[in-house]
Amino acid sequence: MSGNADSARATSIRRSLSSRLLILTIGFVMLAEVMIFVPSVARYRESYLTQKLDEANLAALSVLAAPDAMVSEELRKLLLQSVGVESVVMKLPQRRMLLLAHDMPPQIDQIFDLRTAGAFEMIGDTLMTLVRGGDRKLRIIGYATTAADAHVEIIMSERPLRQALLDYGWNIFTLSLFISIVSATLLFFTLRWMFVRPMRQMTRNMIAFRENPETAELPPLPTDRGDEIALASNELMEMERNLRQALVQKNHLAALGTAVAKISHDLRNILATSQVVSELLQDSADPAVRRLTPRLLQSLDRAIALCDRSLKYGSADEPPPSPTRFQLRKLVDEVGGTVTMDPDQSPRWQNNIEEEFQLYADRDQIYRVLMNLARNAVQAAGPEGEVCCSAREEGAMAVIRVSDTGGGLPEHARKNLFRAFAGKGRDGGTGLGLAIARDLITAHGGTIELERTGPEGTCFRITLPA
Ligand SMILES: Nc1ncnc2c1ncn2[C@@H]1O[C@H](COP(=O)(O)OP(=O)(O)OP(=O)(O)O)[C@@H](O)[C@H]1O
Ligand SMILES: [Mg+2]
Repeated sequence: MSGNADSARATSIRRSLSSRLLILTIGFVMLAEVMIFVPSVARYRESYLTQKLDEANLAALSVLAAPDAMVSEELRKLLLQSVGVESVVMKLPQRRMLLLAHDMPPQIDQIFDLRTAGAFEMIGDTLMTLVRGGDRKLRIIGYATTAADAHVEIIMSERPLRQALLDYGWNIFTLSLFISIVSATLLFFTLRWMFVRPMRQMTRNMIAFRENPETAELPPLPTDRGDEIALASNELMEMERNLRQALVQKNHLAALGTAVAKISHDLRNILATSQVVSELLQDSADPAVRRLTPRLLQSLDRAIALCDRSLKYGSADEPPPSPTRFQLRKLVDEVGGTVTMDPDQSPRWQNNIEEEFQLYADRDQIYRVLMNLARNAVQAAGPEGEVCCSAREEGAMAVIRVSDTGGGLPEHARKNLFRAFAGKGRDGGTGLGLAIARDLITAHGGTIELERTGPEGTCFRITLPA
């Protein structure tokens, strides 16, 4: 037990559902964040550049307001510095005005035209700036906010843009990390509470059951949650209950088997003694005793053979049938002779089977089947009633019927028909007769069924391959 429990615990730390869930949740949330990270940085870059253009536009307007659009060198530098660009150009439909510029026009490395750039181009440009930008000079073109058909051009260094993007990206990254850790932790505890805890409960229950299926006091199962886990728990509980019942029955049958073997063993010896004594009866002076002795000897033979077989094959299994061809009428006569041995207590015995009707089957086993049915029928019919046997061929099948005029099967016997011990309906019966009959007939590839039962009587029908 402890070995298993230890390994189960080791599993729970390294590869448990809880820790896997934790890692997966962090991973998935980060993945989701990455998917929104790139577009949002691109969006940030666009607004950063648009703001620059707006500021440049305002600076340009202040120059235009001066007489002849001429400002002092000092003011020009101040304006460029405050906007953070190197030159500002305004374009109206007919003319181009360089309003603010440093003395030397710089070398341009890259032009970004915000008027025409699509979303993917923006994303591409952003990544380019982040990955390898820095020292380039950029020309940015965009619409002017102050005049409908004017636009503004600025020249600026890429370095401050890149720094702003990096700052913004870092903020997003730390925020994402924080969100994913918080949500993963919440999810972790929720899932742990919802799934892992009941799973552990079920595992403990199963281990306890496996270690001692017959008697162990089992740990409780999460059966009252009303969800799928409760359903599984209920099924598990039901399965354990059924298994326990089956085990009890199996032990019971095993004990019975041993008992049958022991009884068969000693009974065989007792019967052998009776056989020796009975043989002496053949020479009796009483003609009635002489007439009945062969029947007695035959019964003793059969009883000894049965004991031998049950010892040889074990109590539960019948030997496979060894079929021969025989006259059924004769066999039924033998059965009738035995079950109506006491004429005062027996019903009328009616053998309606034709002389030439033959059966290809194990004679001894069919004898036992008919004995069991006949004995039940005789007991049910009573001294005033009648028991009747008939047989006929129907296609490739032989159909044998044993009917009586008794009061019918009790309800309990009808519900548990052919089930060993379960269908016992009368005092002194063991409830095995019909179960034995069914086993023997099934081994022949045939069927046995209750054709009718009621206050007017009962009829059992046997079908055998002819
Ligand atoms: N022909 C019948 N008429 C009425 N009841 C019957 C008939 N055959 C069977 N039964 C009922 O079915 C029950 C089961 O029969 P079954 O032969 O299996 O067991 P049993 O006769 O009780 O015991 P045994 O093992 O000694 O035969 C009987 O107890 C009886 O109540
Ligand atoms: Mg019986």
